[in-house]
Formats: sequence, C-alpha cells, structure tokens
Amino acid sequence: MEDKTLMQCLTEAADYINARILAKPSIAIVLGSGLGDLANQIEDAVRIPYKDIPHFPVSTVAGHAGQLVIGKLGTKTVLCMAGRFHYYEGYSMDRLVFPIQVMRVMGLEKLILTNAAGCVNKSWNPGELMLISDHIKLCAECPMRGPNEDKLGARFFDMSNAYDASLRAIAREEAKRLGIPLREGVYEYFTGPNYETPAEVRFARTAGADAVGMSTVPEAIAAAHCGLRVLGISCMTNMAAGVTDAPLNHKEVLETSLRVSKQFETLVKDIVEKI
Ligand code: HPA
Repeated sequence: MEDKTLMQCLTEAADYINARILAKPSIAIVLGSGLGDLANQIEDAVRIPYKDIPHFPVSTVAGHAGQLVIGKLGTKTVLCMAGRFHYYEGYSMDRLVFPIQVMRVMGLEKLILTNAAGCVNKSWNPGELMLISDHIKLCAECPMRGPNEDKLGARFFDMSNAYDASLRAIAREEAKRLGIPLREGVYEYFTGPNYETPAEVRFARTAGADAVGMSTVPEAIAAAHCGLRVLGISCMTNMAAGVTDAPLNHKEVLETSLRVSKQFETLVKDIVEKI
C-alpha cells in the first residue's frame, strides 16, 4: 500500500471492481472451507481474481479459489468472496480485512460470513449449522489497531450487535420454514493453524463458546467498525479437540462441510432472498 492512504487504496480497489460489474451488489458473502460451491451457482457472474484488484491480498490456501464472483443469486445481486484470508497465512490483521472495507466503500450494507468450525457444545453434532450470536476473541490484535480511518468508522466502536439481531431473526425463520435445523451460539476465535488443544477447548466451553474456529472474527470486527451488518453461519465440521478421542484433521473438516453443503446452500440462498 506504499505511500497511499488506506482510503486511497480502498477507493482504487472499489473503482476497479465497480468498472467491471453489471449491477450493484447489495449483499456480500464470504465462503468458508468446503462451502465454496455456492459461488458456482451465481448467474451472469463476473469473476475477478484477487491478484488483479489493486492492493488486494492474494489467498494462499489450497481449496480457496481467490476470486470475487459478482452476479445474481435468485433475484439479488451478490458479491461473493470465493476464498478468504486468514491470519495463520501470515497476513497482518489490517491486511486481511481489506476486502471487507472495500465492500463498504462500494456501498454494500450486508455481509454473510460463513465458516467451518469445531463443535465445542457437547450436545450438538458434526454436520449441524450454527447461527453466530456473538464471539470471543482473546488472541491476536484487533484489525483496527493503528491510526483510525474516520471515513470508515469511529475510533472506539460498539460490538454489542456485531451479529445483527434482525438478520438473525430472519435466518431463524427461514431455517424453520425450510425444515433445516439451525443452532445458535457463540464462536470463539483461535488464530490457528494448529487446531486447539483439549484444554483450550475446555477453556472455550467454560467461557461460553459453542464453537471454535480460525476465521470470521477479524472480518466481523472490521464490519462492525465500518457499519456493515453481519450474519454469521458456522458449519460444525467436527467435534473440537478432546470432545472425543478422535484426532482432528482437515480432511474430516472438508468432508463434513461437503456433506452438508447442499443444505447450507439452500439456507444461504433463501436468506439472501429475504434480507
Ligand atoms: N478448530 C478450529 N478451526 C476449525 C475446526 C476446529 O476444530 N474445525 C474446522 N475449523
């Protein structure tokens, strides 16, 4: 980002995207591990590789395609991030939330964040979906650390409705209508890339968490800062470390998210229609 201000970089990225799209998107969607197929269901899609967008970070994880897909999902125009950025990849917190701030500069108002998560709540099961009601982040710095960009948001900003209550109410209603079971609970952020230790998972449970994961929270904080309303949905891909005797692996995470991807896609598409 050389000697340009954050606002200049965001504006250049937003202008680049705006010049290539056919209609203005109203909802942004960030797709988690194994949930990327939704991007292939977008019609009249314009695909913009991250590497072509000025100042955009570029994703490094296999299975994260690394492009914006903008087009129609049902009757709505959406902007979908197929491939997201994680702190464990080496990005600084401020770099990994750059796309969220670009969305805001483009004029978007709603953001759906999705992820694969480890299930901490012992009475739930892998394969279940959870609406994020709140989060806990005890590790790593805040993405808003450093000089504040007043044009985006205030220095000190509220997190009490970071996972928008009225969007959650709509999601709950739609899940019920579709007959898709939907849990609701607290997501605790860990930086990864190691999965948590059993002691950390017990700690998370004691603290009030229902799920643990390595994404979403930096983006939700940046969204709260710039006034984007967030809906968060986790797919419980595995019981978190120590809940069962089974060791954790990425293969299981991907297999579970693929197994429930159809249900997940139906729910997200339906929510997009209603919000
Ligand atoms: N921990 C952290 N992140 C995850 C997990 C987990 O158990 N499963 C999927 N993402």
